[in-house]
Amino acid sequence: METGLKNRVAIVAASSQGLGRATAEAFAAEGCRVAMCARNKETLSAAAEKIRSQYKTDVLAEAFDVTDAPAVRDFVNAVVQKFGSADICVTNAGGPPAKGFLATTIEEWKRAVELNFMSAVYFAHQVIPHMQKKKWGRIIAITSITTKQPVADLVYSNAVRAAVVGLVKSLANEFGKDGILVNNVGPGYTATDRLKELARSRSAASGQPEQEIFEGWAADAPLNRLGEPRELADTIVWLASERASYITGQTILVDGGLYKGL
Ligand SMILES: NC(=O)c1ccc[n+]([C@@H]2O[C@H](COP(=O)([O-])OP(=O)(O)OC[C@H]3O[C@@H](n4cnc5c(N)ncnc54)[C@H](OP(=O)(O)O)[C@@H]3O)[C@@H](O)[C@H]2O)c1
Repeated sequence: METGLKNRVAIVAASSQGLGRATAEAFAAEGCRVAMCARNKETLSAAAEKIRSQYKTDVLAEAFDVTDAPAVRDFVNAVVQKFGSADICVTNAGGPPAKGFLATTIEEWKRAVELNFMSAVYFAHQVIPHMQKKKWGRIIAITSITTKQPVADLVYSNAVRAAVVGLVKSLANEFGKDGILVNNVGPGYTATDRLKELARSRSAASGQPEQEIFEGWAADAPLNRLGEPRELADTIVWLASERASYITGQTILVDGGLYKGL
């Protein structure tokens, strides 16, 4: 399938491992120039170097926290200075802690809003003017199945990610005239370190062995297995491509059928 993405500039936030990293790699495989970030410099540099050498493409990697608005601004400026544009922006961040409501704290609520909502605002704010100039752009938010179906003990995610869906729809409405398409992808249970972290915390709370927790998650989906990061990444690449040129304002789940609604 011809994606039309060769030489496009793809920013992928929170991308030293897991879903972000798989996405950065998938764009590099399409011939995009890629900009990556994460907090830990060593892990990020190693991931960037691997992608650079494997796909023989330009990669810009900078270590910062996506909740730091001035750092996001400086990063996007650096991307545009180096590559000349910011065509595609995938917003992403680490997940919030797994908790039921009464275990939550006000400080953690504020942190979840910063991490999983405001970080998307910061990126969108910076990239949209560049996309408007080119009359072409793609913003894709990585969120969660929780945008459609709340998950027990993930109350921060259940609540905060809904705001991202509102943002995505609003941006799609406002900037469609500029050729900017804005969508949201919601992973189901996908085999990354984040999922191991969730299994650990659930196991600590319930006493159920982690292996059983993984098996339960896999069995919840009609496809009867966990997702692979590459499966989410391929969906994001498709959404960014010319093959998805009439899709905007949508939430697309990549969940093996886990979502139970119509
Ligand atoms: N995996 C799943 O099954 C699943 C399902 C639904 C939703 N999600 C959501 O999808 C997102 C990505 O998940 P994942 O499984 O890929 O997680 P992961 O394996 O833990 O990877 C998270 C990545 O984000 C970076 N990161 C975390 N916090 C950051 C911050 N404040 N600033 C900059 N970079 C940051 C991490 O690097 P540093 O630590 O070095 O910063 C790492 O590169 C999360 O929000 C998660 O909740 C995942």
